[in-house]
Amino acid sequence: MNAIIKSVGIYLPELAVNNDELAKSRGLDTSDEWIKSRSGIAERRILQDDNILTADLGYFAAKSAIEKAGILPGEIDGIIAGTMSPDKQFPALACYIQAKLGCGKAFAFDITAACGFIPPALNTAALMIRSGQAKNILVIGAEICSRILDWSDRGSCVLFGDGSGAILLSASEDSNRGFVGSALASDGNLTDILYMNTLGAKDSFLRMEGTAVYKLAVTELAGITRKALENAGLSIGDIDLFVPHQANIRIIQSVGKSLGLSDDKVVVNVDRYGNTSSASIPIALHEAEQQGRLKPGMLIAMPAIGGGMNWGCVLFRW
Ligand code: UT7
Repeated sequence: MNAIIKSVGIYLPELAVNNDELAKSRGLDTSDEWIKSRSGIAERRILQDDNILTADLGYFAAKSAIEKAGILPGEIDGIIAGTMSPDKQFPALACYIQAKLGCGKAFAFDITAACGFIPPALNTAALMIRSGQAKNILVIGAEICSRILDWSDRGSCVLFGDGSGAILLSASEDSNRGFVGSALASDGNLTDILYMNTLGAKDSFLRMEGTAVYKLAVTELAGITRKALENAGLSIGDIDLFVPHQANIRIIQSVGKSLGLSDDKVVVNVDRYGNTSSASIPIALHEAEQQGRLKPGMLIAMPAIGGGMNWGCVLFRW
C-alpha cells in the first residue's frame, strides 16, 4: 500500500497588490525595480477581511481538496497543518480546521517548520498511510503573512503573501504512483536568522536575516534534493518536475542551475504570489496541475527550507 497525492486544493485572497501599490499603501522606501530584481516578485495576494482567520484559509483549501477527491469529510483520518501566522499560540491550527470540516474522527496536529513545512508533513503523512494507520490524510499549509510582518522592515515585508493549500494523501495499491522517498535536515544553531517571538510579545513580527537565509537556501536546497534522490536510488535525471518552495526567483534559479535542471522542469509562481510560506508548494503544485504540466507517473521533487532552520525534499510520483 502506498500514499498517493489524491488531490490538491488552494485558496488565494482576491486582492492582488503589485509592488508599486504595496510601496504606496504602506509608505515603504522601496521600488518595483528593487523588489523584482532581488526577489522576482511582482505582486502578492493580501487578505482584506480582518474577520477571516488562518484557520478559515486552511479550511477553504482543505474543502476544495476534499471536493476534488470526491470523498466525505468523515473519511478523513488525519490532518497535519503548518503555519507561521497562527490565530492562536495553541491549540494546533489543525484542530480548528478539523472542527470546521466536521471530520471528528480525524487526528489533528501541527508541524512547526514555517516555510519548510511541506517535506516533513508529506513525509510523516505518507509513512502513516504506508503503515496502515490511516487511509486519507490532509496536509494543509495556511498563511496570513500580512498579519505578522513588520511593515517598517522593507527587507522582509515586500517578500511575503497570503494564501493556503491542501494536499490530500490517500492509500492506493497503484505501484506506479505515490510517495517515493525524502530527506530531512535541521540546524538548531540557526534559530536566530528566521523567527518570530511569541504572539502578543513586544516584538511579535517575522524577523529574518535575508542574506544568511539566502545563502543557506541556495546550498541546502540543492544538497537535500540530491540526498532525497540518493536515498530513493534515483538521480537528478529522473526528476520530471521540480516544485520548490517559492521564496525568491534567484534562489530557485540558482538551485535549478546547480542541479542541472532545464527551465521547463522548474515550477515558478513566486512572481505572482510572493512567499506564501507553508502554502507555497501546494499552490505551485496546484498551478502545475491546472496548466497540464503533471502527467501520471512523473517524478516530482518538492524541496523547501524555513525557520529552524529546517530543510527537506520529498519525492512523489504523480
Ligand atoms: O522562505 C524562507 C525564508 N526567506 C527567504 O528565503 C528569503 C531569503 N533572502 C532573500 O531572498 C534575499 O536575501 C532578500 C531578497 C531578502 C534580500 O536580497 P539581498 O540581495 O540579500 O539584499 P540585501 O539584504 O543584501 O540588501 C541590499 C541592499 C541594502 O542596502 P545597502 O546596505 O546595500 O545600502 C538594503 O538596505 O538593499 C536594501 N534593501 C532594500 N532596498 C529597497 C533591503 N530591502 C529593500 C527594499 N527596497 N525592499
